[in-house]
This record gives sequence, C-alpha cells and structure tokens, in this order.
Amino acid sequence: METLLALEMVRVTEAAAIASARYMGRGDQMGADKAATEAMRATMDEVEMRGTIVIGEGERDEAPMLWIGEPVGLRHEGMPDVDIAVDPLEGTNLVAHGQANAITVLAASERGGLVHAPDTYLEKLCVGPVVAGHVDIRATPTENVRAIASALGRRVSDITVVILERPRHEALIEEVRTAGARIKLISDGDLSAAISCAVSGTGVHAVMGIGGAPEGVITAAALRCLGGEIQARFKFRNDEERARAERMGHADESRVYTTTDLAPGESLVFSATGVTEGDLLQGVRFFGGGARTHSLVMAYQTKQVRFVDTVHMFDRDRPPSVRL
Ligand code: FBP
Repeated sequence: METLLALEMVRVTEAAAIASARYMGRGDQMGADKAATEAMRATMDEVEMRGTIVIGEGERDEAPMLWIGEPVGLRHEGMPDVDIAVDPLEGTNLVAHGQANAITVLAASERGGLVHAPDTYLEKLCVGPVVAGHVDIRATPTENVRAIASALGRRVSDITVVILERPRHEALIEEVRTAGARIKLISDGDLSAAISCAVSGTGVHAVMGIGGAPEGVITAAALRCLGGEIQARFKFRNDEERARAERMGHADESRVYTTTDLAPGESLVFSATGVTEGDLLQGVRFFGGGARTHSLVMAYQTKQVRFVDTVHMFDRDRPPSVRL
C-alpha cells in the first residue's frame, strides 16, 4: 500500500505546486498559500484512503480546509486508514518574492505514525545519514559542529550549517561562526533545508535553530526515509502556547524528541514538489499547454527514494511536445 500511496501522494503535492507557482513573484503570500491549499485539498480527495489530517492549516474553526481532524480521501469501505501531515506551501514569502526553495509537502503514515504537534516552535538539530548518531542537541553548537565535521571526515571550515535568519538566532549564528563553520542564512524554509542536509551533493550538512513544530514532524518523516536524524525540543513563546501543547501531551520543554518520537510510523510516505527553483528540487516550469514539475517521493518500508519528473498536459486536444 505504501508504494501506491506514495505515487498517489505525489499527484497531491504536484497539483499544489502548479497552483501556487502561478503566484511566483506576485507579492501575494496569501494567494499563493490559498491556491496550494485548495489544490492539495481537492486532489487529496481522489486518493484511495480513509485519510485524516493530523497536522494542517490549523484548528477546525480557524482553517477553511485541511484543518486538524478533517477527513480526506475517497474513504470507501476497506480503504486504508492514513494520518496525514501537510504543509501545502512551505515558503509563502519565497513564492511571493520569486525566491528559491519553496516546496509543497506532505507526510502520511498508518494511524498514529505522526506526532500531533501543536503549532508552536521547535528547536531543531537536523543532520544526514552519515552524521546521524554523532550529535546531541543538549551539547553546544561548537561541539555539534565539530562532531559533524569529524563524522564527515572534513574540517570544521568545510561544514555548512543552515540557520533561519531571525533575531532569536543571533547567539547561535555568532557561535557557529566562531567555531569556524560556514553558514547559509535562509529567510524561510527549514524543512526543505533539513531534507537537503540528508542528500549528499547539496552542499548542506546540518540545520540548527528554532522553527515551526509542524514542519519538524514532516522533517522527521523525511529524515526517517533518508536515514538522517532530527533532535528537537519544544519552545513556547507564552502560556497560551504552553497550555495548548500541554493538552496535546507536549508540556516538557526539556524533553528531547528523536526522529522516531516525532514520526514513529512504519508505513511512512513523504512527498515534496518544488514550487520555485531549489537546492534539491527544480521549480514548476510552465510552457504552452502544460507544466513540468520535479518531486521527491519516498516510502520508508519499501526503502524507495524517487525523484519524479512529470510533464502535466493541460489540454489533451493541443498537447505540448514532451521534451527529454
Ligand atoms: P511559511 O509556511 O509561512 O511559508 O513559513 C515557513 C517557515 O519559514 C518554516 O520553514 C519555519 O519552520 C518557520 O516558517 C519559521 O517560523 P517564523 O517565520 O515564525 O520564524
């Protein structure tokens, strides 16, 4: 069921990517996000599953669709029960400004295979398969950068760490610079960066810092498929967030969540499609009568990592010529 689901899910992220890519550079974050969400929601209902959104656009009363708990899929008798975590558009600002690395993304699993994370912050340390098991989020950034370099057999000065450019990261950035590593500051998109650090050839070796908790769960699903690692701790900005997290069973800010804590499923499926040009995925390319998309689709149990290059023909009567 995993392989079939993976191939169905890629259609979902592809549809969202095509819809949101039309907003590239138009300065309309909300429009880009809405287009991705609507396309993702509509295509998801064509998938043969009894799906439930466990991470989505918000609580039922605050999101028009893809809300937490929303039933999705064809939902016929006998179809598999599937939990789904979505980020219809990671990088709304990136699309609005025509910048790199915006993706549409989701993870799916058997029931209970993805943690129900509150929409708070999460401190994250993400590394690829070679470094997995060699870092500790409780250690200092200096110690972790050295451990990453040693695991990869490189000098610290040859390590690149991705960090979200935010005032809250000033001390972290300073320490990583002092330790001697290179830094790639990003304006958005720590999920897509975390996937990149588990794919060799992207030039990215780790992601450090505080970002969204929902993105952290989807990151965990991706890193389990790729053999990478995320370590994480919840960070609450106020009592309201703390109370919300507590109701979901995540009150302890000192608890270190592992990759498997965040995405414990055994039938994990992950799909991401590039919206704008990126380190890992090409963006959507439109041409007369069609578009071409580039996606990463993975299934944990079947150990498959696929890069999917799809030509979408919008008009059957006037199909575009398919190029190599
Ligand atoms: P969008 O989903 O709004 O595009 O934001 C994505 C993102 O940059 C994530 O990659 C990151 O985890 C989070 O937002 C960071 O949140 P904040 O902008 O509040 O620092």
